[in-house]
Amino acid sequence: MTGSPITGKKLYIQEVSVRDGFQIEPRFIPTEQKIELINALSRTGLAKIEVTSFTSPKAIPNLADAEAVMSQIERVDGVVYAVLVPNVRGCERALACGVDEINLFMSASATHNLANLRMTQEQSLAQFEQVVRHIDGRAAINASLSTAFGCPFDGAVPESVVFDLVQRYLDMGIGAVSLCDTTGVANPAQVERVCAQVRERWPELVLTAHFHDTRAMGLANVLAALRAGIDRFDASLGGLGGCPFAPGASGNVCTEDMVHMLQAMGYDTGVNLDQLIEISRLLPEIVGHDVPGQVAKAGPYSRRYPVPESVRALSGANQ
Ligand code: COA
Ligand code: ZN
Repeated sequence: MTGSPITGKKLYIQEVSVRDGFQIEPRFIPTEQKIELINALSRTGLAKIEVTSFTSPKAIPNLADAEAVMSQIERVDGVVYAVLVPNVRGCERALACGVDEINLFMSASATHNLANLRMTQEQSLAQFEQVVRHIDGRAAINASLSTAFGCPFDGAVPESVVFDLVQRYLDMGIGAVSLCDTTGVANPAQVERVCAQVRERWPELVLTAHFHDTRAMGLANVLAALRAGIDRFDASLGGLGGCPFAPGASGNVCTEDMVHMLQAMGYDTGVNLDQLIEISRLLPEIVGHDVPGQVAKAGPYSRRYPVPESVRALSGANQ
């Protein structure tokens, strides 16, 4: 780090497992299990939970129960309940459920936008404009920029394209943006450079970093974003996640691994790590397979093991 004191600095941890995670699972997670998981996560101190997405059920069948989930969860004061929305239709569905925040999304790269949303980038921006008008203050708005650090089809994404799109969002009156590394291609030097420029150009912008750990650079990218002044991070319990329309996509940065690292460094995440680990340990049963998260398996760094008798005997003999 740059040497500045970090102890106690407040960070915002935003959970996306029930959206980014469940959207790519090979089998449908029953609605009841989604609701139970969200209710448990709501009590861990997370700043925000992205509950589901109001997309076409043909595109994302695993989240076809968006209305049922959003309207049946127990909402805890202080937690922002957000949902992902691709178009005006999704916005109407989300508002009918009384969501706190609508997270619009499009890609920084033309081909991923076509693959994911079946729209050109200009068509997506036109949807954004309509959605902003339609919401008319009834919910907060965040806009996500997928493939902001690179695209599995188009390759490198020029930084100028990212900045231009952020400016387009701001011009529409959107004041909160997530920069998303959809397929885990970002490296820490790139992340620090891009995030620092966005911070410097638009200091008032509420900026979230959203990383996937596909190439094991996830936590390093979190640190790079921190160095650039980012204080909001998306992460996914157990490290679930991935976009079904991005070849090679895999899980987000794991929430409990990230919280564990940040707390060990002295940051205030507001999150109860023990509770998070406990909930994460339920995931393999829920999704039917092992999950990538490491701290739920290893235990936190403070974990101590009993000294084996044979080792005790040695220390006794040496006294
Ligand atoms: N909610 C529910 N249904 C929707 C919808 C929404 N927000 N938007 C469109 N639909 C329905 C239409 O009514 C239509 O239904 P029908 O076939 O029964 O008539 C169908 O979906 C197709 O609609 P169309 O407007 O032609 O959309 P499309 O096929 O061009 O797809 C999107 C556009 C945006 C709806 C679709 O690509 C999508 O939902 N993508 C989401 C991708 C995603 O979530 N990726 C993971 C996150 S990174
Ligand atoms: Zn993602």
